[in-house]
Amino acid sequence: MTWSTVALLLVVVTAVLLRWRRPAWYWMTFGVTFAALRVAFRYASVMDACGLTVPPSRWRLSLARMTNRPAPESQAPRILRMRPTRTGLVLRLKLRPGQDAFDVAAATDRLRHSFAMYGVTSRELRSGVVELRMTGYDVLERVQMPTKVDSAPMRVPVALREDGAVHYRDYRAVPHGLTLGATESGKSVYQRNLVAGLAGQDVALVGIDCKQGVELFPLARRFSALADNPDTALELLEALVAHMEDVYQLIRAEQRITVNVPDAEIAADIWDLPDDIRPTPVVVLVDEVAELALFATKDEEKRRDRIITALVRLAQLGRAAGIYLEICGQRFGSELGKGITMLRAQLTGRTAHRVNDETSANMAFGDISPDAVLAAIQISTDTPGVAVAGDSTGGWARIRAPHTSLRQAVNICNRNADRTPDLPELAAFRPAVAPLASAALSLSKAAPATA
Ligand SMILES: Nc1ncnc2c1ncn2[C@@H]1O[C@H](COP(=O)(O)OP(=O)(O)OP(=O)(O)O)[C@@H](O)[C@H]1O
Ligand SMILES: [Mg+2]
Repeated sequence: MTWSTVALLLVVVTAVLLRWRRPAWYWMTFGVTFAALRVAFRYASVMDACGLTVPPSRWRLSLARMTNRPAPESQAPRILRMRPTRTGLVLRLKLRPGQDAFDVAAATDRLRHSFAMYGVTSRELRSGVVELRMTGYDVLERVQMPTKVDSAPMRVPVALREDGAVHYRDYRAVPHGLTLGATESGKSVYQRNLVAGLAGQDVALVGIDCKQGVELFPLARRFSALADNPDTALELLEALVAHMEDVYQLIRAEQRITVNVPDAEIAADIWDLPDDIRPTPVVVLVDEVAELALFATKDEEKRRDRIITALVRLAQLGRAAGIYLEICGQRFGSELGKGITMLRAQLTGRTAHRVNDETSANMAFGDISPDAVLAAIQISTDTPGVAVAGDSTGGWARIRAPHTSLRQAVNICNRNADRTPDLPELAAFRPAVAPLASAALSLSKAAPATA
């Protein structure tokens, strides 16, 4: 055996091993080149086989006839750009006359097999231009977020989509969100990722965790207010409504609409105010929302009504005052009583983890997209964290958040503890720090808290 044979054998073994154990590394070392070559050489025949070609135009046929050449072949969409990415290939196609984006969308599964890719999705960028996003491996199996993500205020890269793109939770575009899922489906880990993403931003975090605070209290150093039972939650929500009213007073005081104030300077929400007086935006995270809506006695019923009223008011009016709701629960339907469907209608950003029945999926997507309902039911029990994320435009995608452990989230929150703003109205709900330090330390002695 010569040295070159040994070297070749080593390369092949490495490639096979990588493909088996580390598909992401395999893609970046070998896979991307093979896939690009496969697409470049087989493009015309695959498009033909997938029914994505059009017959030659009349003028090309006449030209061939006049010049005595053989009849031209059918034409596939023109490739405008082929871009390799960390997880796959992105093709931008210019459609031929007579084709539409739906033709390409309907053929994505055939394209996936023909190009030997793991997944193919398509979307129309503008009239006649379609983007095909192909992934080389199952990016949701072991989620690795890219190191470079777009950062903007109130926009958190929270998960990876199945087409390899980053899924952002953008509070300014979609102020309020609802996350549903059966028990052990990954809701709290998703919420933990949101907290970790928001921790480094100028935002006040407010938490209501009726599971006795097990999920949010370890992160208390970055929280301006926390509640771990329905009674405290009611007081906290009413304090938030009072805070919201104060913010509106401030905005009104700053409006000063006169003829010489330019249109762009008239404030209608906190983001129009000058930086130095802008109130800190607040994200309210509620875990296990059903705990707030259940009651056994008359007194608890009164408390429940007040809680739901406060939540509905925050959902209806909070956005301009910079108050955003992020609600998590196992179910969130009319069986939780009056006001729930009204509140749900205000929660535009929907995310459904694995659900056990169609009714639960309908609570998230019934009024948005029937396909998304089906996709949410199909999530299997052995992939916790996989979810379907939709928006009010009817679009949806399968996503999975990285598996951020409680330890990692605690460290991020402790590192950013000095960013925790003090909101005077919520001062009474500021969690005590001393018990937190011991709770955080006891999580792991090996990696003590930094703050
Ligand atoms: N994105 C993820 N990637 C990998 N594993 C995950 C992910 N999300 C959750 N898990 C696993 O699933 C388990 C349950 O997750 P989590 O506590 O978030 O579920 P949950 O929906 O909040 O459950 P419950 O309703 O009981 O509170 C976690 O301990 C973790 O092991
Ligand atoms: Mg949970």
